[in-house]
Amino acid sequence: MRINVHPSSIIRPTEDLFGLFFEDLNHAADGGLYAELLINRDFSFDPVDRQGYHSLMGWAPLGQADMRVDTEDTPCPGNPNVLHVRAAKHAGIINLGFGAGICLKKGVEARLTLLARGKDAPCLKVKLGDAEGEIRLTDTFEKHTLCLKPSGLENGRLEIMLPSGGSFDLAFASLMPGDTWKGRENGLRKDLVEALYEMHPRFLRFPGGCLTHDGQLDPYARDGIYNWKLTTGPVENRPGRRNNWGYHQSMGLGFYEYFLLCEDLGCEPLPVLNGGLDPHHLRFAEGELLDRYIQDALDLIDFARGGTDTEWGRVRAEMGHPKPFGLTYLAIGNEEIHEQFHEHMAKFAEAIRKKAPDIRLIGSAGPVCAGGPFDMGWAYARKQGLELVDEHYYQAPEWFYANMDRYSRYPAEGPKVFLGEYASWGNTMGNALAEAAFMTEMEKTQSVGLACYAPLFCHVRYTNWQPDMIYFDEKRMCKTVNYHVQRMFMRNLGDAEVALDIGDKGKAEETVLPLGGRIQILADDTEMEIRDLTLDGKKTEDFSLMPEESREIGKAENDFTLSCTVVRKSGKKGLRIRFGYMDSKNFCQWTLGGWQNSDNAFEMVTGGRNSCLIQNNFSLEDQVAYRLCLKVVGRRLMGYVDDVLVCDIPVLPVIRENLYAAASVAQDGTLYLKAVNVLERAAEAEISIPGYRFSEGEVLEGPEDAENSLDHPECVVPHPAAWDGQGAYTFAPHSVTVLRFAKNG
Ligand code: AHR
Repeated sequence: MRINVHPSSIIRPTEDLFGLFFEDLNHAADGGLYAELLINRDFSFDPVDRQGYHSLMGWAPLGQADMRVDTEDTPCPGNPNVLHVRAAKHAGIINLGFGAGICLKKGVEARLTLLARGKDAPCLKVKLGDAEGEIRLTDTFEKHTLCLKPSGLENGRLEIMLPSGGSFDLAFASLMPGDTWKGRENGLRKDLVEALYEMHPRFLRFPGGCLTHDGQLDPYARDGIYNWKLTTGPVENRPGRRNNWGYHQSMGLGFYEYFLLCEDLGCEPLPVLNGGLDPHHLRFAEGELLDRYIQDALDLIDFARGGTDTEWGRVRAEMGHPKPFGLTYLAIGNEEIHEQFHEHMAKFAEAIRKKAPDIRLIGSAGPVCAGGPFDMGWAYARKQGLELVDEHYYQAPEWFYANMDRYSRYPAEGPKVFLGEYASWGNTMGNALAEAAFMTEMEKTQSVGLACYAPLFCHVRYTNWQPDMIYFDEKRMCKTVNYHVQRMFMRNLGDAEVALDIGDKGKAEETVLPLGGRIQILADDTEMEIRDLTLDGKKTEDFSLMPEESREIGKAENDFTLSCTVVRKSGKKGLRIRFGYMDSKNFCQWTLGGWQNSDNAFEMVTGGRNSCLIQNNFSLEDQVAYRLCLKVVGRRLMGYVDDVLVCDIPVLPVIRENLYAAASVAQDGTLYLKAVNVLERAAEAEISIPGYRFSEGEVLEGPEDAENSLDHPECVVPHPAAWDGQGAYTFAPHSVTVLRFAKNG
């Protein structure tokens, strides 16, 4: 084949195309990116955060000691819990740290800070591994610091003892490693930030996805919606909160720290703020409460870039950054699909435009790739003149191969796509190849403005969601192959995308997923009655299903019609009609009453990985009879409820091209050619780039099922390309390649 790159034919500026998405799930922050080594450092764990949590979690007596927590006489009104300790001689307390315990590299010291007091000036003896020190308290709350340097520490704990016995009060205790990123006191874990720094992201989305919209509407409630204002100011005064992923969030990593991180990474901050609603619990703010959410967005603009004469610009300055951070992008809402959100968004947009017309506002298109709510999100964004629309989807690799041209079908005018969350359900080379191929197509289309893989981090002992880009424990880190792909794409992106064509590409591999075959009906968390079922006119006897029970009801050719009446007797969700059923890992399904009995969707499961093809609103009520009809005609899936077409989507063929490629040029004269060979065989190509000569290259290659892990973090890592620029280049099987060229003369 022949790759012809046309450096003077500019397709688009690349702007801030590829970036990062950070959400505090999987303990990505506490116990992860946020370097604090003590768990529950402020005694603020609470059953609201998670059933069973309490203010002494992570702490234990050492010897004969009593511990009690209250808020009396607190020095931290924003975060008032205080621990009172009374201990016998040589007794005291310990902190267990996150995960398996406190780890500290050899030669690295840790800085202990205690905000404490004690009557009769008791002396505290502190022990961390083989390092010891003393702190003498006074009878008023004061911050005491002490550096401890154990000779390495694995799964350790911090001991605070009273050699002579007595009592003391502790409002806050922090143990920060001395080797935080840039040595900051309220620091981030160096190896994790370095991994991000190496990527050269162009933006960082924070503080999350669902984390931003799950909670009470009162943003000052402990389980209230994420409130960025509560994440600012002295760390000991920041109230902890319930993180919707089922744990406690300390807020030590707050908005100031996120902005600082963006500055360090040299990327644009992309905060996501709540749009005045919690879609999970159907809570919608109105009136003054909604105004408060809008005001929070306006204040954030000042916090990010306002002068120090503004209230929130002053807060930023007091925290150590009088210079504005800058703010170009602002997203309101995460995966919002409710009409109320779009009404709220109009108000947010009006107020934000008035204050800062240059901000690029991002709206929402919901949690899936197609359907009524998705279209509604886009329609509102166009009407409101938003700059970008946030799309999210997690799909099987097959979906990505079937949808490579997705964005070339979008209009070039109007809001651009912010692909704010995507991944291909796995951390194998096969997954990374599908993502890489998709990224080459995103590069080439004008309709995609920003894109970020999700989620970013996962502490392996606290997994809420997989796949993730980087896994870690207390001391190790694993960069997945997906990470390497993202890194290669970010580091090798010029300022302008240029045209290329591939000649003699050869025939692509095409897989047509079967739609005919075995058919099953499954009751999804409900008791269901199924009557008058016919498959292509042939009647089956009536039957009932208990929750999670399924029944095989026959076989069909590719084109078929299935009709039945269903009545939900009891339960929370609905049913699934599975067809084209090959085995439990490969089938197609029509889901009715899925998620929170709120939608109907066509889904394709391939190799056990689900791809939602389309989702629309729908819920079932108990004791109501619904007449369902599923029609498969050719490659088209149609679902009717009471004769109304409620879901309609074609199943596209899965096409694996012989090579995917994209090229961009940077202002310094470098031309980047990226090529992805997703097939088992090598692909040889003559490369023609008038006016440029080869300088160097990088290749990521490996078997489709290869993946990195904490124990084997380097199974698949990039290596230099073995080529001198002469003759044809051979793209290895299952590989992602970046070739860099320099401008002649
Ligand atoms: O990335 C994990 C979750 O997936 C996000 O919180 C949410 O936005 C999406 O549904």
